[in-house]
Amino acid sequence: MRSRRSRVIPVTAPDEVTTPDEQFDRAWEVADRIPGWLTRDQARLLYDEALALPHGATLLEIGSHQGRSTVVLGQVASATGGTVIAIDPFVEGRLFGGAPTRTRFLAHLEEAGVAGVVRHVEDYSTRARPGWSDGFDYLYIDGKHDFWTFSDDLRWRSFLPRNAPILVHDAYSSIGVTLGILARVLFARDLTYVRREGSMALFRTARPRLADRLRVVREVPWWLRNVGIKVLLRLRLRPVARLVGHDSPYDPY
Ligand SMILES: C[S@@+](CC[C@H](N)C(=O)[O-])C[C@H]1O[C@@H](n2cnc3c(N)ncnc32)[C@H](O)[C@@H]1O
Repeated sequence: MRSRRSRVIPVTAPDEVTTPDEQFDRAWEVADRIPGWLTRDQARLLYDEALALPHGATLLEIGSHQGRSTVVLGQVASATGGTVIAIDPFVEGRLFGGAPTRTRFLAHLEEAGVAGVVRHVEDYSTRARPGWSDGFDYLYIDGKHDFWTFSDDLRWRSFLPRNAPILVHDAYSSIGVTLGILARVLFARDLTYVRREGSMALFRTARPRLADRLRVVREVPWWLRNVGIKVLLRLRLRPVARLVGHDSPYDPY
């Protein structure tokens, strides 16, 4: 977690803001008060990809937690007449916090002034998908990080148009998600890897070239490094993690 809970201050009216950089800075100032794992650069990638879509776009997020990323997407939706669909069952347990997390999530949306553009679906992504019928324009995957759930979450892409963005958090820092990418993306005919920001990867619903597939393979050493760092941190060997360039008590995201 990057920040402690504190009151979220609503973003200033968009017409007071001039450049895209300033607009993002305002959006991030709001989101960064919400606890979570999303870094500033990753939020910028989420924000820019959402902002590049036509007016009125629908953004679908899997895994919202307390709303750190939802609020980033919500601010783009507010400014562009769009909608965010946020799917999270608020699973119980020490890591995600269950019902109290849901209360915080809803409060953060209100405080950030984006509750009106966010439709919350309180369900597991894997349970919601089979009965789903509405198309959307943007997919952000940050739900359960095991191989099977991630593989299933990728199937939501059938609702996207061609060339739409798919963003995946922990793409190269979680064993389940990376194995999912190697198994489901590397050989797919409709998924192209574009780039990553830390462990947040950007894909598009487009036919990949060989070079695109090879770029996925080239991320494997980065993934192995991140898994190694996570093991070192669990073993309380932070000085050793520092030797490979990770100077933080947090997992590499
Ligand atoms: C890493 S957190 C999401 C962080 C959030 N995107 C942010 O920026 O702070 C993962 C979330 O996924 C949710 N989750 C777990 N399994 C899920 C599933 N099958 N479908 C949707 N959400 C799920 C958890 O309740 C948790 O809130």
